[in-house]
Parts: sequence; structure tokens; C-alpha cells
Amino acid sequence: MVTTEELNLPLIDPTIKGQILDTGVISFSFAPQIVFGYGCLNRIGFLSLFLKAKNAFIVTDAEIEKLGFPDKVQRYLEKSGIQSSIFNEVEPNPKEETVIKAAEKFKSSGSDIVIAIGGGSVMDAAKVIRLIARQGGKPSDYDATKSTIMAVHEQLPHQISIPTTSGTGSEVSIVAMVTSEKNKVTILGYPLISTIALIDPQLTMSCPPKLTAYCGMDALTHAIEAFVSLRVNPVADMFSLQAISIIYQNLKKSYSDGKDVIARVNMALASAIAGMAFNQKSVGLVHACSHQLSSQCNLPHGLANAIMLPHVLKINKKVVAPKYAIMATAFGISPQNNSSDNEIADKFILEIEKLNKDIGIPPRLSECGVKVSDIEVMAQNAIKDIAALTNPLQPITKELVESVYRTAL
Ligand SMILES: [Fe+2]
Repeated sequence: MVTTEELNLPLIDPTIKGQILDTGVISFSFAPQIVFGYGCLNRIGFLSLFLKAKNAFIVTDAEIEKLGFPDKVQRYLEKSGIQSSIFNEVEPNPKEETVIKAAEKFKSSGSDIVIAIGGGSVMDAAKVIRLIARQGGKPSDYDATKSTIMAVHEQLPHQISIPTTSGTGSEVSIVAMVTSEKNKVTILGYPLISTIALIDPQLTMSCPPKLTAYCGMDALTHAIEAFVSLRVNPVADMFSLQAISIIYQNLKKSYSDGKDVIARVNMALASAIAGMAFNQKSVGLVHACSHQLSSQCNLPHGLANAIMLPHVLKINKKVVAPKYAIMATAFGISPQNNSSDNEIADKFILEIEKLNKDIGIPPRLSECGVKVSDIEVMAQNAIKDIAALTNPLQPITKELVESVYRTAL
């Protein structure tokens, strides 16, 4: 239910250019088209033909290439009479230079479609490759957190995104992140969205336990942060609750037994559902903090989120405890007699800490090489992160962020 108070929330700072002003306006858009199913990779030729593709530029990374998935895509495309070439140089937290190089290759290859097969880094890189190839400039020119940015405005070439992990939601989102020197560049815009998300849970079966855990916690963080975000969208909230419930029931299973097909299918589904929720409502302080942990200290995105999540939940609790109580029901926590929202919220946070422990997430940032001397710069950058704008507790000050990092250290 939307309340008058919610409708009057000053959601986004209107002085920052390039941001969507949605004070009180609810926006519904759950593109792209999703094709989901175990083994559905074999539809890639048909779907590319449907988009009238003749020459595909396949974006991936070296690890995924070793698994043979891009070759498989090429064979399916060949059967449909579609030529293709492979760019396999995307690294984790993709660098600006890599994206620019790939955009040049995309243009010179004469390709008319981008097919991204890999994790979030690959799919994000592919979005920006299309942007740079069509609109020019470099990724940092489009940084949505800067006051002078190039707008993402042109119709971009088609992209089919094929995730090989369950968590990032990049296959359904309008956001892409790349790294310029040590800074995260956030690029936002509807033209970036994939035309089709082809989600084949079979491709996630070989995902190692650690990565399964990191990605799963990323998806859970998307669902939770979207649910408590300052933006208003009851449809997206249904998506969040469904994703939270599915992840809670399946993450431990897919972590402890990677061959559990049902758990893998459910996690792939939940990841996309959580992605659709945060695509509408954005995320919050967990992501603002974790972006810095990745760019400054090289922590994998999902790991950084998993460690920060309980700490941020604790500081946000004072403003959104009733929402935690609703999310707790998605965990199957039923309220005892006369238990307050605060008490249920505590149980919810405890359950997340237990889940982290069960899937091998270290409880402290210091165990991952983060030092006290890293905190100041990270906090300074995190307060400018676009994700901080929709965090329920405001204002997000440098002191507040420093204290959260310290508690998590
Ligand atoms: Fe994320």
C-alpha cells in the first residue's frame, strides 16, 4: 500500500543531473523479454534470427571460454546461418580500457548484435561496449554520479544476455558498472537493457561453491535493498519478497550441492526476479559500501555485499523495522505473541548472519585484507555513490559510512 508520506518523499536530489526524478511517480517496466529454462541455450540461434541478426559479437571472459559455453553458442548460431566472433578479455570489475578496446573490435567486426555470456562483469561490459560503439566517448564520460555527463540516449544494438552465475541480475537491469583507474563508474539508462535475457540454469551447474555463495548473497542483497529503498513500487516489492523467499530456501542447497538441479533452477529464477526489483527501486548503502570494497580492495562484489549486509541492516533498522518484519515472513519467521517489529527485525538479521556462516562467508572485512587505513577514502567515495541516495536512512554522511565500515572490519 502506498501512503501519502511515501508519495511526498524527496526521493532523488534534483540538483544532480542525469538522474531520474520520480518523486511520487511509480514506474513499471519489467523488460527485457526473458527466456528461462534448463537447457534453453539451444534457443540462441532462433532468438538471434528473431532479432534479425546476421553477425554476432560474443562477449565473455577467459574462464567461461574454458568451460566451452561461447563455442556452444557459436555452433548454435552457425546452424542458424549467423556468423560470430568472440571477445574473451573481460576481467572481473571490467576496466574502461577493455571496454573501449572491445567496442572498437565490435565496430570493425561488422557485427549487428552483442551476445554476452558470463557473470555480471561480462554482461555489464557488453552493455557499455554497445554504448561506446554507438555513441562514442569513454565509459567515464557517462558516469551517472557526476554532474556533467553524456546521456545514454541512442537506440543501441541488440544484446542477448546469458548469465552463467545466479546473482548479479545484470541480465535484466538498466545499470552497468565499469572501473576507471580505481573508481567505479555507474552508467544508467533504459537503452542499456538487454533485448533478451536467456537464462539457462544448466550453465550455472559448474559454478564453484564460493562463487555460488557470493552471487547468491548479491541477489539476496538486491531483493532486500530494493524492498526497503526510498523509491515506491509495490509491484517491485512483490518481486523482492518472492526472491527473498526462494533464495532463503535454495541458496544453502546450491552451495552445498552444486548438482542440485532444483536449487540451481530456483536460484537462477530468484536472481532475475531480484534483478527486476532493484531495477525499479535501486539499492542502498550495502551496495554503496561494497562498490568501494571492490574498486579499492578488490573484494568480489557478492562477498563485499554479504559482509556488509547485516551491518547496514542494523543501522537502517531504526527507520524500516516494519519492513524487516514483512521480509522475515518470506524467511518463514512467524511473529510470536505480541512480538514487536523490532524483535522480528532482530531475528531476521540474525538469520542472515547464520546464512552467511553456513555458506562460508567470513564475518569480518579484515579477514579479506581490508585495513583501517582504507576506510577514509572508501567512505568519502561511498557517500557519492548513486546507491546511497535510495537508502532508507538518510542523510548518508561520511562519518556514518566510516562507522559502518569500522563495525564490519
Ligand atoms: Fe549487486
